[in-house]
Amino acid sequence: MPPIEEAQAIHRQRVTALRAQLVTVPLDHPDLTLEIGCGHGHYMAAYAAAHPAEHCIAIDIIVERLEKCERKAARAGLTNVTWLRAEAADLLEALPRETRFSGRILVLFPDPWPKRKHWKNRLIQAPFLSDLAQLTAPDTPLCFRTDHEGYFAEALEVVSAHPDWIINPAEEWPFERETIFEARANSHQSWIARRA
Ligand SMILES: C[S@@+](CC[C@H](N)C(=O)[O-])C[C@H]1O[C@@H](n2cnc3c(N)ncnc32)[C@H](O)[C@@H]1O
Repeated sequence: MPPIEEAQAIHRQRVTALRAQLVTVPLDHPDLTLEIGCGHGHYMAAYAAAHPAEHCIAIDIIVERLEKCERKAARAGLTNVTWLRAEAADLLEALPRETRFSGRILVLFPDPWPKRKHWKNRLIQAPFLSDLAQLTAPDTPLCFRTDHEGYFAEALEVVSAHPDWIINPAEEWPFERETIFEARANSHQSWIARRA
């Protein structure tokens, strides 16, 4: 099979497998929150404990980190978090079209891909924001935080220019719990945009 077709077949398999996993997730929950790139789960474990009325989905691509998340949540007796091994774009493709995130979308310290030739791998890009908006209820906040100045500026520019999202400069960060990458950083910057 040619490499492009093989890559497409692998991608389809991943999305199909994810759809099968999503069958058990309460996607019709009225207050659904999503964290993309949850890492070791410190933030989401604390967030879910503090927001028992929400159902939270936390995704990451590294299985060992998710295993730690599962253990953390089990120790805390959390029943309102689903940890999923999923790549963000795959998840958006796999979710049923009627899914609506109406709690919060959280993106904390996403990989900054500092070299210019890798910027195309950054999460916050216009097509991704469009796909996310399709699954997000009006007025739902997208909360972004990074310690990388260049990525902060670029992501702010992209979201500010996007018709589906409205930056709210006055909005306060909704919930503080230091993440592993936050602890390592000297400083960080955040923005919050609401679904138009
Ligand atoms: C720099 S770490 C930050 C982790 C955590 N949010 C924190 O602040 O400690 C970025 C995380 O995003 C995950 N990640 C990277 N690309 C991703 C993607 N496309 N979809 C889901 N997770 C991703 C990585 O595996 C990693 O755990």
